[in-house]
Amino acid sequence: MKKSLFFLLIPLLFRLSLFAGEGMWIPMLLQQLNEKEMQEMGMNITAEDIYSINHSSLKDAIVLFGRGCTAEIISDQGLLLTNHHCGYGAIQRHSSIEHDYLTDGFWAMNKEEELANPGLSVTLMVRMEEVTAKVLEDVNDSMTEAERSAKIKENSDKLIEEFEKDSDYQAVIKPFFKGNAYYMIITETFKDIRLVGAPPSDIGKFGGDTDNWMWPRHTGDFSVFRIYTDKSGKPAEYSKENIPYQPKYHLPISIKGVDEGDFTFVFGYPARTNEYLPSCAVKMITESGNPHKIKLRQTRLDIFNEHTVNNPGVRIQYASKDARVANYWKKMIGESAGIQRMRGIEKKEAYENEFLAWAVSSPELEEKYGGLLPAFQSAYSQLEPLSLAFDYLREAGLGIELVNFARYFSHLTELSQANGLNEEAISEEITKLKNKTDGFFKDYYSPIDKEVMVALLKLYDENLAPEYKPAFFNTIHNKYKNDYASYTQYVFGKSMFDNEQSLNEYLNAYQPKHYKKLEKDPAFQMASDLKNLYVYRIQPGMNGINRKLDSLQRIYMKAQMEMAPDKRFYPDANFTLRVTYGMIDGYNPKDAVYYKPYTTLKGIMEKEDPAIYDYVVEDKLKELYQNKDYGDYADEDGSIHVCFVASNHTTGGNSGSPVLNSDGELVGVNFDRCWEGTMSDLMYDPQVCRNISLDIRYFLFIVDKFAGAGYLVDEMDIVN
Ligand code: ARG
Ligand code: GLU
Repeated sequence: MKKSLFFLLIPLLFRLSLFAGEGMWIPMLLQQLNEKEMQEMGMNITAEDIYSINHSSLKDAIVLFGRGCTAEIISDQGLLLTNHHCGYGAIQRHSSIEHDYLTDGFWAMNKEEELANPGLSVTLMVRMEEVTAKVLEDVNDSMTEAERSAKIKENSDKLIEEFEKDSDYQAVIKPFFKGNAYYMIITETFKDIRLVGAPPSDIGKFGGDTDNWMWPRHTGDFSVFRIYTDKSGKPAEYSKENIPYQPKYHLPISIKGVDEGDFTFVFGYPARTNEYLPSCAVKMITESGNPHKIKLRQTRLDIFNEHTVNNPGVRIQYASKDARVANYWKKMIGESAGIQRMRGIEKKEAYENEFLAWAVSSPELEEKYGGLLPAFQSAYSQLEPLSLAFDYLREAGLGIELVNFARYFSHLTELSQANGLNEEAISEEITKLKNKTDGFFKDYYSPIDKEVMVALLKLYDENLAPEYKPAFFNTIHNKYKNDYASYTQYVFGKSMFDNEQSLNEYLNAYQPKHYKKLEKDPAFQMASDLKNLYVYRIQPGMNGINRKLDSLQRIYMKAQMEMAPDKRFYPDANFTLRVTYGMIDGYNPKDAVYYKPYTTLKGIMEKEDPAIYDYVVEDKLKELYQNKDYGDYADEDGSIHVCFVASNHTTGGNSGSPVLNSDGELVGVNFDRCWEGTMSDLMYDPQVCRNISLDIRYFLFIVDKFAGAGYLVDEMDIVN
């Protein structure tokens, strides 16, 4: 390399290496902790533009969508953008054989055609306030963990009540930094959310579970909704009279595109991370918990696959279940492999040695912190068997669909045996169970479940200590001599839960005394055995240890912050609004391989395979590609960019989050992470941790050119 060129590169190299990408930051602390760095990395706006309590700011355009995703407002008429996989439930509920919106996509051609979604809500953060001192008032170190929690709850309830009595808004108080800080989050929840548009699944889910968690990716993972309010602009339940919401702020959309090295930030609702665990906990998760759960899920997935591969009807029935099981199966594989690859446990151990040296460096420190690490060791070694028992209960016991279904009937038996029968409650419960029954059988194929049961029982039996097995194993051992297949035969032969007709007859003619028939049902008995195991064995033990761990974690967090007073710490994700920032950046997944940071339409054509469900390409899309009919949405390089990766630190819940450029304009929608980096919930590795986003220009291209819904684009603020 010529010397002059090398010198030109120095600032870039310096910039790239200076910044690690790690951290999920609190919006109200950005100015203090992050603004300078963000601006050094290229940001042209201020922290006050992102979060302000004095005027409208970016945060007024970000909402928590439903129960687990993020969405952003992209027009002055409350238009809302999120992922296809976040809107999936709503799209599915409006779909039928005649109107198969999942398969064909859906576009409301005017506001009258938008579809209401009872039960779906979005929540906006109005502002946040630190309330640590008030929440911890009268809390002291001599309290037990239970006393402490009770006091904290009492103080928090009082603060919330005081706030809510004079306000239209709601408030919640959440712990940060493992309970060393508390913030009150003030929110407004909108309840009339209508479906505006969704692409067909072979765009919105392109690549399916085969490509899930993977880069290079070509998924058009978006759907569009709209928020409605009452005439005065306040949240209201669905009504025909409602009007489109007029937000304080909506995101401008940039079609300038992004390039390697560009600054980006993600603003959304990450759900849960555990970045401050001791090495023994990371070891337990990645070397014991994950491998067991992976094996159990793998077993189910193989059986699903065997039955669905040549049976399209069953394939549809199991599509959603399969996606659910597969998602975290794959995530856990990536997570364990990632920790191993980055030598995460050794790194944590090295850090703990440093910590220990500091913690014994003075008698005062030693008294407070000297015993922390051994106490963690002992708590986690007690937790491990219980945690494994709990994993098997959920993944093996309740992995049997019949048993998981039967457990919903236990409330009926309780109601039926109560003193002073509540007829009304019973009949409500019957109605609920009938709906549940319809839903269950719609997507149930018992040959799969039988095979799953035989396989899961075997694994359950082989891998767990006797004291953590549910009671039905006594029958399996004694009466069936460990013949899981004939036990399964017996359960399925005798239970009414795999027979829709007899179950409906039973429910239709139900009288309280009939609860006895339930109690004699072998699938219901299996469910009861699991429940008893949980209530009497697993839960009591786990609760005690978890309380102990809460306390240890709180003290450990405090100690770490004390040990490194100049280090910037960020709190673990807790489903509150956060900012994370990084840059558009490719990566090396393995030796000799480099992944570019963006994909294009060409890649969709390369992946096309009409024989494989996940890789079907719409004719219309091929036509647009062949004619290069790209409108204003092509990149400078002449191609349509589909997805990109960047070093923003994201997790579950960040799905649907806006990816913004240095001017605070929308350039992408986050929807996944790269497999090699899924351990970032435990430890972030700047080499390979990347979030995957939809390029906003692909979204616009599909809406405008593919779906012919350009009138929606007219509603948006497009920046050239
Ligand atoms: N991995 C993404 C997330 O965790 C997408 C999940 C939905 N897609 C799927 N193929 N299962 O939510
Ligand atoms: N798909 C995830 C979600 O639904 C985001 C992926 C991740 O865990 O980062 O939130």
